Formats: sequence, structure tokens, C-alpha cells
Amino acid sequence: MDALIIDGPATLEGTIEISGSKNTALPLLFSSLLFDGEVQFRNVPRLWDIETTLKILESMGAQYIWDKEQGTVAILPLIKTKVAPYEWVRKMRAGVLALGPLLAKYGEARVSLPGGCAIGARPVNFHLDAMRLMGVGIEIEAGYIRAQVNGGLRGTQIEFPQATVTGTENIMMLATRAEGKTIIRNAALEPEVVWLGGVLKDFGVKITGLGTPCIEIEPRPLKRPDRPILVPPDRIEASTLIAAAVAARSSITVKGSDLREIDSVIQAYQKMGVKFKMNTESSTLEVQPPGRLGPVEIETAPFPGFPTDMQAQILTNACMADGTSLIHETIFENRFMHVAELRRLRAKIQVRGNTAIVDGPAKLIGAPIMATDLRASACLLIAGLAAKGQTRVSRIYHLDRGYQRLDEKLKRLGAKITRIAE
Ligand code: EPZ
Repeated sequence: MDALIIDGPATLEGTIEISGSKNTALPLLFSSLLFDGEVQFRNVPRLWDIETTLKILESMGAQYIWDKEQGTVAILPLIKTKVAPYEWVRKMRAGVLALGPLLAKYGEARVSLPGGCAIGARPVNFHLDAMRLMGVGIEIEAGYIRAQVNGGLRGTQIEFPQATVTGTENIMMLATRAEGKTIIRNAALEPEVVWLGGVLKDFGVKITGLGTPCIEIEPRPLKRPDRPILVPPDRIEASTLIAAAVAARSSITVKGSDLREIDSVIQAYQKMGVKFKMNTESSTLEVQPPGRLGPVEIETAPFPGFPTDMQAQILTNACMADGTSLIHETIFENRFMHVAELRRLRAKIQVRGNTAIVDGPAKLIGAPIMATDLRASACLLIAGLAAKGQTRVSRIYHLDRGYQRLDEKLKRLGAKITRIAE
């Protein structure tokens, strides 16, 4: 396993280009299961989760070529077994996204239950309940979801009890082959869902309501993709780089992000006194942190609210702010694992239920700390940029699951970071 050694406090400068979006790439790669012939993708980020996704597809019989330098992937979905095995899905719960396309194309699937993860139980009951309404028989046996289409897939009305990103994506892909229209109410509005829906529309599916809580899908014969499918920039990586600039009290330029997708993040940082120079034409965002950071109160929420995937990062920035900040986590029940690690750097944080109370400014001092999940690992790296002295973040494979060499990107901006094997 790798660890990162960060010498702080850091000063950053320059421009950084955002990589392709992990949470858009994953459903797109699984959507290749809907087709017979080769499907190509471009701007695919170089992440462990992409590796895991391709291994899941390969274990079903698919062949793939991944040019990591070019960021291109070609998948030939010659599917022999409709099984997504535990050995891979336990590493990446998004493996549940194999369910919808396998059932749509082949009428059957055996997908390992994802199990929980560090941030919460993360059940998939909403996915399964919706599939049952569409005519899918589902049994849980030996830790697997055994699903079988009985008597044809039926388009129907689905109402999710709570907005679910991958649940909406799974049902959109399943609905492409159903008999009749499917209406999804309380659908997720995330840009990743809108992008996947746009790609399905390019291939002939009639979809309306993308980006609203009500999506309608009318199946049409799928057209073979005649050009590579583009993965858009990663809105959470762009937001994470804002947090890094604020931690290093440095002005940097973040290039490539669709600024509309990070509006709630920009607004939160503006409340802390951060200034931004935005250029939508060139998709660039210049981050200008203030001399003294102000406190903030945020509540995570589904899009377009403040993203839960940025909670750990802004909490880290709040440690440096003058005054008390309140961070309310409303999406996941256990997403404050990073607090104990930040306390080791002398952060002053209390957790009461789903709220973190952060007293600042804390003079962070470097120390050995440990990553527990993907976004927590990013916040610990960011804390190392602010802390005085050396911070060693271990179990950095969490970071590499979802960020394309974030340490290298920050080093190019002037950070002093060394990656070591441990
Ligand atoms: C997606 O996870 C993202 N992952 C997560 O990003 C992100 O944090 C999350 O959406 C929320 O925005 C991918 O897109 C691959 P949900 P997902 O279903 O779809 C509950 C990262 O760091 N729920 O929208 O799994 C669930 O427990 C990751 O990149 C059920 O109860 O999240 C949660 O409380 C972490 N039953 C809430 O709904 C279900 O069947 C929202 O979860 C499904 C969800």
C-alpha cells in the first residue's frame, strides 16, 4: 500500500486541468452491456474504480482495450456469464450498475450485493424494489442478487422513496428495453445521471425530464454507437482542487469544469470569503482565497445542493476559519471518519449526531494519519497542505480509487508531496 508524505504549509500556483468524471464514467462503461458490438469511450480517468469496472465486465466475457495515457477505452461486450462477482463488487459498490443493463439485454443477472462501506450501510433496496415493479424476479442468495425477467419487462411508474443516483441510472438503463414507457419519480438530478441519459438518447432512446425529479423513458431500438462516448470533467475533483487552494491560501486556476455543476460549492466558499474569477467560455475558475477565512454552515443535499462528496474537504477548510462552522451530513450515516484523523493534526471538531462543529482557526500540525474512504483521503491530503511540518497519509489506495494522481497534480502546482510504498 502507498502513503503520501506532505510537507506543509504549502504554497500553490498555476493552472490544473480536471480529469474525466469517475461517477459519470462508471455507469457509461456498464452501459456498454446494452450493446452487441464494440463501444468506445474517451477522456476516461485513470482510476482503480475504472480498472475494477473493466475487470467485472471482463469476468462476464467482455474484451477491452484501455489506453491509460490516451484515456480511451474500447469494450467488446461478448457476454458469456451474466455474473458480477463478489471479489470485484466488494471493492466497488458501483458494480451494482451491472444489474440494469444485464437485465435489459439478457433478461437475467447475478450481481453480488455490494455490502456496506466506510461511509454507511448503503443498501440497494430502492434499486431492487423498482426492478420488481418492472417484472423482474429477485432473490437474494449467498450474498448475491439473483435477478430474472419473468414474462417480459414492463414499463411502469417508479417512485423512489429517496433520490438515488445509481438507482436512477440502473432503472434508466433497464427501461431502455421495457415494454412501454417508464416514469421515474423522485429521480436523481445529478449531472452524471443527465449525462448518461443524454448518451442513451443519442442511441435512440426517447428520454424526457433529465435533470428534473421526473424522468420518462420510452424504449426504442438502440442504435450502435458510431463514435467514442465522451466522459465529461469531474465536478468533485474540480471542487476538491478549490479546497486545496483554500488550504494552501493560494490562488490557482482550475480548468475544464462545467461551472454550473459546482455552483453550490462556489457559493459555500464565497461565504467563507473566497473570491472567484469565472470564465464559462474557457471553463476556467480562478480561486482567490482571503487572508482570513470566515466560518461556514453547510448541509449536504442531493444535486443541486452541496455535494456530500465535498463534505470532508470543506470541513478541513473550516478548521482554518475564524470562528465556529457547522457541517451537517444528511446523505450518509457515517461520513465523519475523517474527523478523528483531523483531530490528530490538532483540529478542534466535535461531532453531534449528523453535525460536525468545527472551531477555528486551529493551528494544524503535521502527524501520521490514515485514509478511511475516498473523499476522506482527499481531505487528509488537503489538511497536509495546511499543516505545519510533515503529514503522512497512509492507505492512499482510497485516493487512487477516485482521483487521477491528485498528488501529482498538486506537485505540479508546487506542493511538496512524496509517494512511498509502505
Ligand atoms: C452515488 O452513490 C455516488 N457514487 C456517491 O459517490 C455519492 O456520494 C452518492 O451518489 C450521493 O451523491 C456513484 O455515483 C458511483 P445514492 P449512490 O443511491 O448512488 C440511500 C464517491 O465518493 N439509499 O444516491 O450509491 C443511501 O444509503 C461516492 O464518489 C438507500 O437507502 O448513492 C444514501 O443514504 C461515494 N437505498 C442515499 O440513499 C438504495 O437502494 C443516497 O444514496 C439506494 C440508496
